[in-house]
Amino acid sequence: MRQVRYAAAMTVREVIQRSTEFLQRHGVDFPRLQAELLLAHLLKLPRLQLYLNHDRALAEPELTALRALVQRRSKREPLQHLVGSTSFVGLEIAVSPAALIPRPETETLAELAAAALSKCATPAPVALDFGTGTGCLAIALATRCKAAQVHALDISEAALTLARANAQRHGLAERIVFHLGDGFGALPEELRCDLIVSNPPYIPTAEIATLQAEVRDFDPRAALDGGADGLDFYRLLARESPAWLNVGGGLFAEFGDGQETALQLMFNDSGWRAVVAHRDLTERPRVLEAWR
Ligand SMILES: C[S@@+](CC[C@H](N)C(=O)[O-])C[C@H]1O[C@@H](n2cnc3c(N)ncnc32)[C@H](O)[C@@H]1O
Repeated sequence: MRQVRYAAAMTVREVIQRSTEFLQRHGVDFPRLQAELLLAHLLKLPRLQLYLNHDRALAEPELTALRALVQRRSKREPLQHLVGSTSFVGLEIAVSPAALIPRPETETLAELAAAALSKCATPAPVALDFGTGTGCLAIALATRCKAAQVHALDISEAALTLARANAQRHGLAERIVFHLGDGFGALPEELRCDLIVSNPPYIPTAEIATLQAEVRDFDPRAALDGGADGLDFYRLLARESPAWLNVGGGLFAEFGDGQETALQLMFNDSGWRAVVAHRDLTERPRVLEAWR
C-alpha cells in the first residue's frame, strides 16, 4: 500500500492504529510509539495526553497533516527531523539534515566532560568541541559550566548555522565562539584549551552502506565517515590536540563498538596519560578520557 488511508472523522485511537500498521509494514522500528509521537507533535500535546483524548475525532486538515508526516516516516526520515528537535541532557536541540541528530549515548560524553571541566583549577577554563554538529556538546558544556569559555569547530557551514541558532536559543550566543574549517587549522593560533571534547565521525567507510536507513540516508556523510578503519579522527586528535591543550589538559572523545582497544593503544603510544574508557548507559565502552 502506497498511502496511509484515513477515513473522515477518524478518532485518535483509530488513526494511531492505522498509522502503526502502516509504519510496521514499512519496517519502521517501534511503529506505535512513532505514530503516537507524530500525532502528539501535530496536536501539540504531550504523548500521554493522547490516551485522555482517544475518542476525539480528527478534523480533515489534521488528517492531511498527519498523513504527510506518517508518509515521510515510512520512507525512514528520522522522527527528530519531522518534529524538528530532540532532547539532549535535558536541553532542547533543533535538528536538521545539516547535522547528525544528537544521540542518547553522547549524553555520557557530555556528562563526563562537563564534570571534568567543572573541576578545572582555572577560574575561566577553556573548552573546545571538535566537530560540533548541532552544537549539542558545546551547549551542554556552556550550560553546565557557567565560567567556561567554549569554542566549537566544524567543517560544515550548514551545521555551524544550526549550531549558532541552537546556542542563541539557549542564550549562549556570547559564550560560544564558532569556527568554520577543516580540523585544528581553522582555530586561531593562540587558542589554548583546558579540555577538548569530540564525538568525531567514527564509522568505517565500508560499514556506512549497512547502517539503518534513518542514519545512512539522513545523517550527513561528513558526520559518519571515519575512514577505512573508522579511526582517522582519533589519529588526528591523538597527534594534533596536544598542541592546543594547556599543560595538564584533557580530551574526552566518543568512539564506536569494538574501537576501545585500538584507541587505548593509540593514545598510550602517543604520550597521553591516564587513558581510560568509560561505558555508556547501555554498558558499552563509549568514551575515551586521556590527559597530557
Ligand atoms: C559525529 S558528528 C558529531 C556532531 C555532534 N558533536 C554530536 O555529538 O552530535 C561529527 C561532526 O564532525 C564534523 N567534521 C567532520 N570532519 C571534520 C573536520 N575535518 N574538521 C572539523 N569538523 C569535522 C562533521 O561535520 C560533524 O558535524
